[in-house]
Amino acid sequence: MNAVTDAPVRIGLAGLGTVGSGLVSILERNADWIARRLGRRVVVKKVLVRDLAKPRAVALGPGTELTTDPDALVTDPDIDIVVELIGGLDAAFDLIHKALSAGKHVVSANKALLAERGPELFTLAAQKGLGLYYEASCAGAVPIVETLKSSLAGNRIQSIIGILNGTANYILSNMSDAGLSFADALCQAQAKGYAECDPTLDIQGIDAAHKLILLIRLAYGQNLPLSRLPVEGITRVTPEDIRFAGEFGYTIKLIGQVRDVDGKLAAGVYPMLVHKDFLLASVKGAFNAVRVEGDASGPIILHGKGAGDLPTGSAVLADILALAREGMIPNNTGFLAEPLPDADLPDPDEAVSPHYVHFTVKDQPGVMAAISKSMGVHGVSIRQAVQKGEPEDGYVPIVFLTHEAPTRAIKGVLEDAAAMPFIKPGTVHFRVL
Ligand code: NAP
Ligand code: HSE
Repeated sequence: MNAVTDAPVRIGLAGLGTVGSGLVSILERNADWIARRLGRRVVVKKVLVRDLAKPRAVALGPGTELTTDPDALVTDPDIDIVVELIGGLDAAFDLIHKALSAGKHVVSANKALLAERGPELFTLAAQKGLGLYYEASCAGAVPIVETLKSSLAGNRIQSIIGILNGTANYILSNMSDAGLSFADALCQAQAKGYAECDPTLDIQGIDAAHKLILLIRLAYGQNLPLSRLPVEGITRVTPEDIRFAGEFGYTIKLIGQVRDVDGKLAAGVYPMLVHKDFLLASVKGAFNAVRVEGDASGPIILHGKGAGDLPTGSAVLADILALAREGMIPNNTGFLAEPLPDADLPDPDEAVSPHYVHFTVKDQPGVMAAISKSMGVHGVSIRQAVQKGEPEDGYVPIVFLTHEAPTRAIKGVLEDAAAMPFIKPGTVHFRVL
């Protein structure tokens, strides 16, 4: 082993929950290995928590001070890097803002904050010449931030298609493979530490949207406010639709995607039917995967654990080591100009894909003809249609897979359906990847 000669890298760790504990545990178990790579030790000097008396999953070293005062981290001249793992918006923003203002590099896993208030923080970091690193914020252990920032930096990115939320993927996989109910699968994901503090962020697609916004900033050098991104969660996905999709050869996944369409970014987060032959269809449990297509690289797929203590701690530690390496030259968004310009989005209603539409209809003559006529009027071409099962209260499901059609055309069909007395309200619609 090379001599470990320099002073240690001292970190101020904010948060000792799932990810904070994972980081402390890796620092402990891999201390010698890290020192061998870095030539320095990484030492946790102070840890910020809310409750000093709470039992902890990891033991802290004798030199580590536990505190409830955020200023104790940012005013300590010995602390080189503040690691923000408390989550949420306001307290985390204040902490990072103060840390950067005090001249400290920052590592964060907080995608919600960096998606919603990133532009202010990245601009401050650029003014100060400091690092604001966030590998753990997107897809846990999967090194997609570094891949976009550095490895694919010379490419024009044509598309990014990702399974970006471990909780949603865990729920959908367990509903389809283990027959679990939505509620049971969500409870399990929470117990395993995958879910956000507020799990509605996971199931409503907001967490995936936050991550997609970070990926868009990294790939295209453009800011996209959450309010402009079309987002749908998985709460409308039922076992029945999972079964129908399966019969057509598809599985249902929560997909975050962006495509460069003639210089505009067609982006959104939706539950989508993914054909079983497509690699993303076999991403199970809390695993995440991201398919990036560069104009020179062609398609690349990264796959790995998207959440949990050690996988996420691994990504946090990668950032600490990157910042601690010689030079400390920050590369935050991968672009020199700060603030970055706003993204130019096309009308989401013009986005084209095949569609899955599930009507619940009265079992009587003329129904299929009326729906087919509406599809024809709106220019939607049918690829497959099935009517399955015995009538329940006189109603049966009819499910269509269409050829490619703009979302606008499908909305027209759904509006027509809402006005047809023999179709139950609440027709289900998903896009097909
Ligand atoms: P967590 O388990 O809820 O832990 C949060 C920690 O922060 C706790 O130790 C808590 O203190 C402390 N804390 C919260 N608010 C605080 C405040 N205002 N002042 C001081 N301390 C505060 O959260 P987590 O799952 O580790 O997630 C942390 C961050 O990582 C979030 O931004 C999350 O989105 C992100 N992330 C999580 C995962 C994952 O798999 N869990 C993966 C990727 C990214 P007490 O312990 O005293 O309550
Ligand atoms: N709640 C997030 C998820 C954690 O389920 O993917 C990882 O970002």
